[in-house]
This record gives sequence, C-alpha cells and structure tokens, in this order.
Amino acid sequence: MKLLTVVGARPQFVKAAVVSRELRNDHQNEHEEVLVHTGQHYDEEMSEVFFEELSIPRPDYNLGVGSKTHGTQTAEMLAGLEARIEDENPDVVLVYGDTNSTLAAAIAASKMEPLLAHVEAGMRSGSDIPEETNRVLTDHGGDLLLAPSPDALDNLEREGITNGVHFTGDVGYDALLWARERADESVLSDFGVRGEEFVLATVHRDTNTDDPERLEAIIDALADDPRRVVLPAHPRTVGFLEAFDLYERAERELTLTDPVGYRQFVALLDSASVVTTDSGGVQKEAFFLDTPCVTLREETEWVETVESGWNTLVGADGDAIRRAMRDATKPNEKPTPYGDGNAAERIVEVLANATGI
Ligand code: UD1
Ligand code: UDP
Repeated sequence: MKLLTVVGARPQFVKAAVVSRELRNDHQNEHEEVLVHTGQHYDEEMSEVFFEELSIPRPDYNLGVGSKTHGTQTAEMLAGLEARIEDENPDVVLVYGDTNSTLAAAIAASKMEPLLAHVEAGMRSGSDIPEETNRVLTDHGGDLLLAPSPDALDNLEREGITNGVHFTGDVGYDALLWARERADESVLSDFGVRGEEFVLATVHRDTNTDDPERLEAIIDALADDPRRVVLPAHPRTVGFLEAFDLYERAERELTLTDPVGYRQFVALLDSASVVTTDSGGVQKEAFFLDTPCVTLREETEWVETVESGWNTLVGADGDAIRRAMRDATKPNEKPTPYGDGNAAERIVEVLANATGI
C-alpha cells in the first residue's frame, strides 16, 4: 500500500509519528509512506523539534504555505496537495485531526482517486469554531473514518455517516505512552520546578488569544495562583500578549517560555499539580497522566474527560479559573474510552484491509 500522509501543525507531528513508526518498524517492506508537510507551522520549536525528537522521517515535500488567513492558507495548501497527490498516485491519503492542513488535504483527496482516511474522525464539540468546520467537512468527505472513542462513533452515526467507520482508539494515547517512557525531565530543573508544586499552562485558541478581555482575564487568573505557573507560549499568544500590552506582566508574573519539545512537555505535564489549557491534545494527555485539567473553553470535544471529573470547563471567567485551579483534585476513578494504546497498529490494519494491499 502507498500512503500519502499530510501534516502541518504541532499536534499532527505528534500523532503522525506513531503511525509512521508502526509503518516503518512492523511493515517495513509492505507499505510506502510519502510525507507531505504543508508548512502551516514552521518555527523550529513548532515543527523541526518534533521531527528530531520523535524520529519522524524528513518530509518528502514541504509546501511552505505558512501563516495566512483561513481561506488563503487552505487554498494554497489545496493547490499544492492536489499536485502532490496527482504526482504520487497513492492508494490512501491519511489526515489527522482538525486543522486547516486536514481540511485542505480532505478537499483535495475526496475528489481524486485515493481513499481519504481521517484519524480522529467523529470528534465534535458542538461549537462554531474553525476546527469544528474542519472536522465535519473532513468526515463527510472521508472514505475511512478512524474514530478514537465510542462517543466519536455515535457522533458519526448521528450525522448519517456509517460506511467506512472503524473504532481504533486514540493515537494520542499511543504517542503519550511512548513519550512517558522517554520524558525529558531536565526541563523540571531548567524551570526551577523539580519537586515543587506548580501549574502548567498553555493558551492558543483564537477565541482566547485574539480577544483582549479574555486574554487579560486568563493572564490575571494565572498570575494570582500562589504556585509557580509555567506557560510555554504558542507564537500566536506571544503576538497578542504584545499587541494587548500584556507581555511584560506575563513575563514578570509567570514562567513564560518558548514552546518546549514533546518529551519535555510530557515531563512537565506529568509533574504538574494542575494544567490550565485550551488545547485539545493537552486535555487528553492530562487525563492519561492523571493530572487534573482546567480547560479555558466553554465546550470540549473530549467529553469523557469532563464527565469523569478529571477536567473542568471554565471558559475565560477569571473567578471560575481561579476556583477550579485551587480546588482541582483527582477523582478516584477514571474510565478508559480512548482505546488501549495500540491505535496505530489498528489504523494500519484498517488501511491495508481497505486497499487490499
Ligand atoms: C492551528 C490550528 C489549531 C491547532 C493549532 C495547534 C487551524 C485553523 N488551527 O492553530 O486547530 O490547535 O494549530 O497548535 O488550523 N505562528 C508562528 N509560527 C509558527 C506557527 C504559527 O509565528 O510556526 C503564528 C503566526 O502569527 C500565525 C499564528 O501563529 O498567524 C497562528 O498560526 P495558525 O497555524 O494559523 O493557527 P494556530 O493558532 O497555530
Ligand atoms: N505540546 C508540546 N510543547 C508545548 C505545548 C504542547 O510538545 O510547548 C504538545 C502537547 O503535548 C500535545 C500537542 O503539542 O501533544 C498539542 O498541540 P496544541 O495544543 O498546539 O494543539 P491542539 O491539540 O489544541 O490542536
């Protein structure tokens, strides 16, 4: 089988690494993978660092699209991907998650010969955000819908998508298990939190970063926590902290750093007393690592983390953030809705069966 895998943003490097490893290690001579990087993320700490530490093969193509408005970015990716699919003629185009890179590849592939396979199919938060548009359109154009949880299966069925649907479990869980064994704990000393109680925080959703009131409420609440708060800041967030004159306050009151590598991030998350975030992936990783999570959103697609009491949705309400961070505890029980850590193996199996190769 010949696959063309499309990645572009940080969370996609983490997830694609696991499936690439499975393809190379266990099916070395059976399958061929062509890797296309759209260039959506391009800073060294948002891209290159993941290829190095996760031993992801060099991309065969980098479309170099970079930061643009949604329409222009998606359109440039679409044109570039169509040409690569045409040239490479794969059996399957494999896409991950819910970014503009996912959508561009889905639009291109759904009108061409190869099967379109979507990892993280069926995730829904019920909100009107760009990622939800990307998820829904990708699923409706897809041929193979690789669902990480039973809830995702229900969502697909509710939308009338029943063909090509498979429960695989979550590749993010596979990735986390791999990284936990290799966590880079030197970061704990670097940030002065080894053996200390501390909060880990990440913020990058446009609804939080681009809105001065919400961003200020979040920074204020983080700054008020008596513990040290480590905030590895996404470049989008740095830009808006500067634009809204919040950067100096954040730098003074928080441990504000560049984004860190995945193995460092996992070490921080595993040791933190609580994580405060608006990331999709981080909510789930916190759940896997038994770290209570406070989510800076009004809704989430990872509903099981909230229903089980491990994750609290607080939006950007300062008092709610403070309270949830202060009161965060570990529930006694935890369900296991996201599979058994062998999602990559199942994904490769489903793709091979579907193509008959
Ligand atoms: C994108 C995804 C989001 C995902 C996130 C993961 C979409 C619509 N959004 O959001 O779902 O959660 O990636 O991190 O696809 N920038 C840099 N350097 C980089 C990358 C970005 O400076 O390497 C800055 C640019 O100012 C850019 C901004 O960050 O305009 C936003 O980047 P973009 O890729 O458009 O969206 P994200 O917010 O990263
Ligand atoms: N991550 C990382 N370094 C950081 C912040 C996040 O390696 O400084 C990892 C994190 O462990 C997770 C992924 O990046 O695997 C999540 O990416 P992000 O929050 O940007 O995107 P989302 O999951 O919200 O789409």
